[in-house]
Amino acid sequence: KTPGFIFDLDGVIVDTAKYHYLAWKKLADELGIEFTKEDNERFKGVSRKRCLEILLEMGGIEASKEQFNAWLLEKNEDYLAYIETMDETEILPDVPKVLQYLRTNNIPMALGSASKNARPILEKVNLLSYFDTVVDGNEVSKAKPNPEVFLKASEKLGTKPEHCVVFEDALAGIEAANSAGMTSIGIGDAEILSNAKFNFIDFTEIDDDFLNTLLDGVGS
Ligand code: BG6
Ligand code: MG
Repeated sequence: KTPGFIFDLDGVIVDTAKYHYLAWKKLADELGIEFTKEDNERFKGVSRKRCLEILLEMGGIEASKEQFNAWLLEKNEDYLAYIETMDETEILPDVPKVLQYLRTNNIPMALGSASKNARPILEKVNLLSYFDTVVDGNEVSKAKPNPEVFLKASEKLGTKPEHCVVFEDALAGIEAANSAGMTSIGIGDAEILSNAKFNFIDFTEIDDDFLNTLLDGVGS
């Protein structure tokens, strides 16, 4: 049986995690909340709404629904200003190499992202056509670490969870993949992502041999 490959977007395929951080940092500064890069780890893979809830909890701030939505909008507008001019140069190293290898081997591929901006970003960097299906923040109601996004992707690919491989840069994303019963691959700091089945700093460390091992081991 052919395995299905599922990719997170922000911080795995494109270097957008830094823009999410900058947009949250700006809002945090305005609200007088201290927000560090370490705090930002908890925001990775987590929906926009949940991120704002966490930020307000950090600052002990209560907000009306209107105010909450206004801050959500403000963060997203700042984020969109950062990604407006995005192009292929923001694809993370060797990602196209891996996508191309999998495509050549007719491996079904899905995007599994919490972002509501996933499609326009994939279009900007010209990678949308690699994916057989895109499951993003517009379709899921339960944020990672809930496995909903990956389970939906596996369903759409027609591949059982135990035959799926997930690439993730977020702690919450690795947890989601693991609880979906999928093979999790951590991209980034192995200390933070110690729950992943395999760890790599980035895609330059992923070679054809490793991919072949996955293709043989996960699909069978
Ligand atoms: C995830 C990011 O991919 O998408 C999170 O890791 C982000 O940091 C989430 O909050 C939601 O993104 P968006 O684009 O819908 O605000
Ligand atoms: Mg991510």
